Parts: sequence; C-alpha cells; structure tokens
Amino acid sequence: MPLVTTKQMFKKAWEEGYAVGAFNVNNMEIIQGITQAAKQLNAPLILQVSAGARKYANHVYLTKLVEAAVIETGLPIALHLDHGADFEICKSCIDGGFTSVMIDGSHFPYEENIAITKKVVEYAHAHGVVVEGELGRLAGVEDDVKVSQEDSSYTRPEEVYDFVNKTGVDSLAIAIGTSHGAFKFKPGQEPKIRLDILEQVEKQLPGFPIVLHGASSVVPEFVDEINMFGGAMDNAIGIPESELRKAAERAVCKINIDSDLRLAMTAAIRKYMAQNPSHFDPRQYLSPAREAIRDMVAHKIEHVLGCKGKA
Ligand code: G3H
Ligand code: 13P
Ligand code: ZN
Repeated sequence: MPLVTTKQMFKKAWEEGYAVGAFNVNNMEIIQGITQAAKQLNAPLILQVSAGARKYANHVYLTKLVEAAVIETGLPIALHLDHGADFEICKSCIDGGFTSVMIDGSHFPYEENIAITKKVVEYAHAHGVVVEGELGRLAGVEDDVKVSQEDSSYTRPEEVYDFVNKTGVDSLAIAIGTSHGAFKFKPGQEPKIRLDILEQVEKQLPGFPIVLHGASSVVPEFVDEINMFGGAMDNAIGIPESELRKAAERAVCKINIDSDLRLAMTAAIRKYMAQNPSHFDPRQYLSPAREAIRDMVAHKIEHVLGCKGKA
C-alpha cells in the first residue's frame, strides 16, 4: 500500500468516534518506534514533519524513511507537513511526495488566513493532497515561535463554517486550551480544556474532521525520570489524558503528539547513560530510546486515541 491521504482515515475516525495519532518524526529511530507500536496494535497513523525536522534531517531522508515504514508495516500511513508557514514550504512538500499539508495561518488576521489557506488548498487539491488549516491560537513553544498564554486565543465557533467554506480545507485545527511544548502552563494554573467550544464547532460543521495540536500530556513518569538524571523540568504541567480521550470520541479525528515522545526518548537515553557511563556505541542507547517511543505511542493509541485495530 502506498502512502495515503487522511480522507478515508478521518471519515472512519469521525464515524467510529476515535482519533488518529499524528506523531512528529525527526530520525529513523523515532519513525521505527512509532510504526512498531502502530503495527503491533493495527492502528492507522499520521507521521508529521515540521520545518525544523526538514532542516535537521533533510526532506529526502525523511520521505524515504517513511516510505520504508509503509513497506515494512503495510499500514495506512499519511505523511503530513506540520505547521507549514507559507505557500512555498507547502508546495515543496506537495511536490516532494507528502500526502497532507498544514498551512498555519492562525497568526494572520482572519481574511489573510483565508487567502493563504485557499491558495494552498487550490494547489494541493490539484495534486491529490489534503490540507489542514487552523483557526485560533495555541499558547506554547514550537521551533522559534513562542506564544504566551496572554497572546493565545480560543477558536471562535462562529467563524469556523465561513472559514471552511471559503478555503475548502479538509480538516481544521482549533484552539480549545491545549498548548505546545513540555512547559504548557505556568505553575498554579490548571489547564482548562474547553470541550464546550469543541461542541459548538461540531454543531457548525457536522461530520467535519477537527484537529488538536499541543496534545502531549507531559507524562509525569518521564518528567521524573529526566529530573532524576540531572534535568530541570520542575515546572512541566501537562494535560489530563482523560480530556483528550473525550475529544477523540467527539469530532477530533487527529491528535498531535510530539513533546511526550521527546520526553520518553530523552529519559531513556539519560537513564541508559547514567547506568552505563562507559558505553559509546549509539546503537546501545538508541535501542532503549526507540523502545521508549514505541511504548509511549502504544499507550497513546490505547488510552488516548482509541484507534487500536482501526487500520
Ligand atoms: O508543534 C510543533 C512540533 O512539536 C514540532 O516541533 O518545530 O521543534 O520540530 P519542532
Ligand atoms: P506537543 O508539544 O503537545 O506534543 O504538540 C505537538 C504538536 O502540536 C505538533 O504540531
Ligand atoms: Zn502543533
């Protein structure tokens, strides 16, 4: 089976009340860890690549590794551009074999967001590629972009129909209180996931696939493990997985997870090196790192996404 778009994946996810995991990939071990878990649990999968990942690993290396994962697993896998900042990067990914792109115009004024999103949709659809747009602004840190809690904004449900109608996007990322990165919330500030906004969006867009970004829960076990081996993650506060589970049962068809994989991988490497300080073969510490990614993804598939057995 070749790479797929998210069209059929999302239709099934919406109808059956689960979400597909979209995991960020940067190298071979991460791709292998994620796909091993999906294979074990027969889950559909979205592997997503950020601009930073493309810069780090190179577009061709990443696409070829993902193609290898498709051959290896036989699973329906979509290759997605995460947070495309402009038309050029979206075009480059569409031309270079991606099956899905995100154009993130959420920081633009509404009309500008519509204009840039529409331009990407026209090019993408002409090439058989699907597009995710975004309305509302998540707090948090991604690459060079920092959005403070004060500058973040919830999606306005009254805008979503107009936006989808005018742009022709295939899915829509909304802001309901999740946040990018491992340091999501200030100490003392409880995360508040606004499922009521999701409910209002659903009413405006019946049957339409919704996306949640910033959906790592910052699993405490791995934060502790990083702290134990010399990290400084005292202020990391996450999102309850039970809230994400509720969103996955509703119109949310794609849930983005990156930070939890980073934490699991780094905790495994720190632990290995602390226990084996004389080892220097990268395969020795990257093996437990890959297993940690696999276990984290398996946990998300079963307990957050609900997409076990849905491939
Ligand atoms: O939302 C952003 C993702 O976590 C990707 O992060 O831009 O550092 O690769 P990155
Ligand atoms: P996290 O930082 O919560 O993992 O979010 C990842 C994300 O939204 C990628 O687009
Ligand atoms: Zn994101």
